[in-house]
Amino acid sequence: MRKFLTTTAMSLALMAGAAQAAENVEVLHWWTSGGEAAALDVLKKDLESKGITWTDMPVAGGGGTEAMTVLRARVTAGNAPTAVQMLGFDILDWAKEGALGNLDDVAAKEGWDKVIPTALQQFSKYDGHWIAAPVNVHSTNWMWINKAALDKAGGKEPANWDELVALLDNFKEQGITPVAHGGQPWQDATIFDAVVLSLGNDFYKKAFIDLDAETLGGPQMKEAFDRMTKLRSYVDDNFSGRDWNLASAMVIEDKAGLQFMGDWAKGEFLKAGKKPGTDFVCMRFPGTQGSVTFNSDQFAMFKVADDKVPAQLAMASAIESPTFQSAFNVVKGSAPARTDVPDTDFDDCGKKAIKDLADANTSGTLYGSMAHGHANPAAVKNAIYDVVTRQFNGELSSEEAVTELVAAVEGAK
Ligand code: BGC
Repeated sequence: MRKFLTTTAMSLALMAGAAQAAENVEVLHWWTSGGEAAALDVLKKDLESKGITWTDMPVAGGGGTEAMTVLRARVTAGNAPTAVQMLGFDILDWAKEGALGNLDDVAAKEGWDKVIPTALQQFSKYDGHWIAAPVNVHSTNWMWINKAALDKAGGKEPANWDELVALLDNFKEQGITPVAHGGQPWQDATIFDAVVLSLGNDFYKKAFIDLDAETLGGPQMKEAFDRMTKLRSYVDDNFSGRDWNLASAMVIEDKAGLQFMGDWAKGEFLKAGKKPGTDFVCMRFPGTQGSVTFNSDQFAMFKVADDKVPAQLAMASAIESPTFQSAFNVVKGSAPARTDVPDTDFDDCGKKAIKDLADANTSGTLYGSMAHGHANPAAVKNAIYDVVTRQFNGELSSEEAVTELVAAVEGAK
């Protein structure tokens, strides 16, 4: 009897162990700021309610550069996580290496093809197979303005470059830092996305999507760099190396006038209890209304042991549920990755993000973000980062930057 009990207990324990392995996901991501963690919590709790436990692998560093380095080491060691937060071309690069799993069954059963926009599917599918589950759509051509400072400056939202410069001058007179910025290559590049777009849709497309040498090396690109020099004159002395969320905090705490940043910045404002329209104003970078430079966070699903696949598929399915899409993106600051999610629960900035995205998609003015991996593979992106950052820091003149940009892109292609 005793032996029987022990054996039964042992096999029960073994079964429980197997069940636990099957119901656990190990997730690598870079959502470590206050707003990002709050959004991640929505996902964790959703999975927990479905009996799936979460093993967290956070790798701090906005834009995910550091996370991608850690991921490479993990996969090389033969120890891939279940799911990895990833941007655009990085997903396709991993798919090319044959490292990703297959979500076709769950995608077909749930009809993802019909509700996930093709702009996102380009990165969620490889060779016709689903390899990643998109969580959201962010975009980079936004600014986040301190409402009290804007009101002091007359309350008018700047409609073009000259009005933006006038507003920044006014912030300076008010004694606050005009532009809250963190000097990190991906943040410099995020501003550059918007500045290049503000000089024309065609210009952005030819430069960053087509990588056209004439455009990369032309007079408009010099003007884009000149604008970067001008914006650089409005940051504070301590900007170098500052994390993006600390720059958001400067606007939140009335120390700075505005921040140029993707709509994940809204997550920080919300986390701090700030309200759009009352405490802060969201608007497109002047001159880019009607256009959107997007990036979508997707969970790339890696090839894992068979007993881990059910949890992986359950995670993918949970992410694409319309209710989850609304709950998560309301907190994250992004738009849903599905076109059929009602905007009811979103604030005015979220409603605008959803509408802008749909409009840009229809009018052909939706472009992949260069700064966030949706215009080019990492090699080209990093080559552009390097030139943009050196120029922003005064190591290159605009003329030199233009020449270097052409060479860097050519070398990285
Ligand atoms: C991601 C966002 C994230 C931001 C800052 C972007 O690349 O798409 O989800 O909040 O980086 O970390």
